[in-house]
Amino acid sequence: MSDSRQPIGVIGTGYVGLVTAAGFAELGSEVWCVDIDAEKIARLRRGEVPIYEPGLEELLARNSERMHFSTDIADALANARLLFVAVGTPPTYSGDADLSAVQAVADAIPASREHALIMKSTVPCGTGASLRRVFDEQDKGGLAYVSCPEFLKEGTAVKDFLHPDRVVIGDDGGWAGDAVVELYAPLGAPLVRTDIASAEMVKLASNAFLATKISFINEIANVCEPTGADVVEVARGMGLDDRIGSKFLQAGIGYGGSCFPKDVDALKQLAGNSGYHFQLLTAVIEVNELQKRRVIGKLHKHLGGLVGKRIALLGLAFKPNTDDMREASSLVLSARLHADGADVTAYDPVAEEQARKLVTGIAFADSALEALRDADAAVLVTEWQELLELDWGAVAEAMRGTLVIDGRNALDPQLLRESGLLYEGIGRR
Ligand SMILES: NC(=O)c1ccc[n+]([C@@H]2O[C@H](COP(=O)([O-])OP(=O)(O)OC[C@H]3O[C@@H](n4cnc5c(N)ncnc54)[C@H](O)[C@@H]3O)[C@@H](O)[C@H]2O)c1
Repeated sequence: MSDSRQPIGVIGTGYVGLVTAAGFAELGSEVWCVDIDAEKIARLRRGEVPIYEPGLEELLARNSERMHFSTDIADALANARLLFVAVGTPPTYSGDADLSAVQAVADAIPASREHALIMKSTVPCGTGASLRRVFDEQDKGGLAYVSCPEFLKEGTAVKDFLHPDRVVIGDDGGWAGDAVVELYAPLGAPLVRTDIASAEMVKLASNAFLATKISFINEIANVCEPTGADVVEVARGMGLDDRIGSKFLQAGIGYGGSCFPKDVDALKQLAGNSGYHFQLLTAVIEVNELQKRRVIGKLHKHLGGLVGKRIALLGLAFKPNTDDMREASSLVLSARLHADGADVTAYDPVAEEQARKLVTGIAFADSALEALRDADAAVLVTEWQELLELDWGAVAEAMRGTLVIDGRNALDPQLLRESGLLYEGIGRR
């Protein structure tokens, strides 16, 4: 790639920041990464990758000469005009997004006509406008601002950065928006260049729509159970209609992760703050919460009381190919099982370290078969490939009971039944 690519700064080196930084380095930019987490920066300087994301280690290693890591935002300001902001925006108790990290970055930027903040963090619609007011009050009106929401998915984030479905850029038509368009140009993705508020809303509306699709098919699954239909067949039949599409039509035990729950909440809250009651999202959230608990009902149905029953949880991460445990369905499930007196052992191929910080009262095993040893029942929580390929004959031998609840409808019922196991999916016959 050419040496004429703009250098950039990336503030916040989490899942989004690090992938964005490595991705732009791959496209030829010098990248100045900043984080307030000194330990993370020290690890990155040593060439270690603090998160699990397929392909990221190789991308960072390949571009290490173009990547610089610091805890001081002055290093990014001195070397780059475009500062991508990728700090966390977790939910507050009210459901609004917590913008304190975004505000801290904005406060740390001095008055400058040379620099632009490019907002990658997911923020409520209206954030760009309120930051503009703050900049004006602080005599920092010359600072440029661009909304550039991120759509990458953990687990396939590197691929998503390099081959995005679309790039959305919201700005006021100035130099910074043009510069961001140029940065993304080599990827050849469809470009949506629009105003700042609309770009902010594209992100929130996209996540809310996907979450709605998941809660919708989960409710269909719940109706399939008493009526004898099989939701996998139903989803197959629906998904072939290209107005509907097959993605996000897999029924299961609910969505989790660092984005859907908080972004759906934030949009609902944003609507409420503006005087509109977003009824549909209220239902989407409630359906998801109840869905996480459906496994408990199924366990009771087959095992009776759960006191002293040994339950194996297969997978803990909110989805496969990530170690992210934020809002994972396994958190609710393990807490409910623990409260019901069950004896829980869990196995996850990569998320154990993160899980240990969030989950109490359960044991961790080094392999799936170890977790399954003498279990009365097993629950597939995360559809890791390794778990889908288990030797079900060996599973049946290791377990004390026979019940396997497929929380992701990802297993082959026939195969399990042939191994002597009792299969129960979500909304499956
Ligand atoms: N994770 C995803 O899949 C995903 C996808 C799309 C959008 N997003 C959005 O992107 C944003 C970042 O998400 P993430 O998952 O990468 O978060 P993360 O928690 O993994 O990373 C955030 C990083 O920002 C750092 N940070 C916090 N305050 C800082 C400051 N003042 N200066 C410098 N660094 C600071 C933290 O130390 C952390 O390393 C969020 O708004 C999220 O909603 C996330």
